[in-house]
Amino acid sequence: MEAVNHSRVSEFVLLGLTDSPQLQIFLFVMFSVFCLMTMLGNCLILLTVLSTPHLHSPMYFLLSNLSLIDMCLSSFATPKMIMDFFAQHKTISFEGCISQIFFLHLFTGTEIVLLISMSFDRYIAICKPLHYSSIMSQRVCVGLVATSWTVGFLHTMSQLAFTLYLPFCGPNVVDSFFCDLPLVIQLACIDIYVLGIFMISTSGVIALVSFLFLLTSYITVLVTIKDHSSTGSTKAFSTCTAHFIVVLMFFGPCIFIYVWPFTDFLVDKVLSVFYTIFTPFLNPLIYTLRNQEVKTAVKKKLSNQYLNLGKTTPIYSVQ
Ligand SMILES: *[C@@H]1O[C@H](CO)[C@@H](O)[C@H](O)[C@H]1NC(C)=O
Repeated sequence: MEAVNHSRVSEFVLLGLTDSPQLQIFLFVMFSVFCLMTMLGNCLILLTVLSTPHLHSPMYFLLSNLSLIDMCLSSFATPKMIMDFFAQHKTISFEGCISQIFFLHLFTGTEIVLLISMSFDRYIAICKPLHYSSIMSQRVCVGLVATSWTVGFLHTMSQLAFTLYLPFCGPNVVDSFFCDLPLVIQLACIDIYVLGIFMISTSGVIALVSFLFLLTSYITVLVTIKDHSSTGSTKAFSTCTAHFIVVLMFFGPCIFIYVWPFTDFLVDKVLSVFYTIFTPFLNPLIYTLRNQEVKTAVKKKLSNQYLNLGKTTPIYSVQ
């Protein structure tokens, strides 16, 4: 039907989240605030962990790395969406769309492996406390972070290799606020239904298996804590439940979108807001509110910054 149907589309049209002007203003304000708070909150955690010597432990290093990924997750698509809110015609170039898919899968893939690393860390700390310092050495910790990024990268490359191989010759309307894989591959000019389901479900199955693994490991940890109720157990319990809540919030939407692709796009669209906007925003809140150590360190950091205002040498130091 197209004159030159082997030519590739040069841009995609994004439909955004809603057509209603009132709702758009509301979402604009809400997402701007969320995006800003995510940046500030995660930045604060990152700086606090890195500058507080007694938080220099595997758990907090992994936590600071999670904050870094959350900042990445909330910045690869949200600023464009916020700027697009009042644009009549929201478009994104082909390359821009492909890079959004690349970053989404890079960051979510990395986040999944990092969440597994964090559960491994808690499992060793609580179920094998005597071996903790020998198992979770600095080297292992760096290794876990490096593995997370490597797996994330390999995962996103596999998804991209598949996407770039598809011919995009005409249809270019993406019914969302960013280019998510299930929506984009449907625009291909060949029938990829079966292949597409297979490809997307692979991500879904990986997410599901990781989720079940995390579920088992946190349940084991929580049961162990309950069995050995001692003085430190309330602290350990609240740390682990915080980790667990983060896991639930992150995996819920991912699994829904990727295990049952091509079902209800309105649901998909709303759920994708979760892993790009809400989860990165809530993570620092959950961690700081449920963790006395982080809370105290953050307060100290903030008050030190405040005291330093107006001084000639605003250098932060910890005793
Ligand atoms: C991430 O983890 C590594 C390895 O433990 C650590 O050296 C680093 O400080 C952490 N934080 C960031 C923001 O990279």
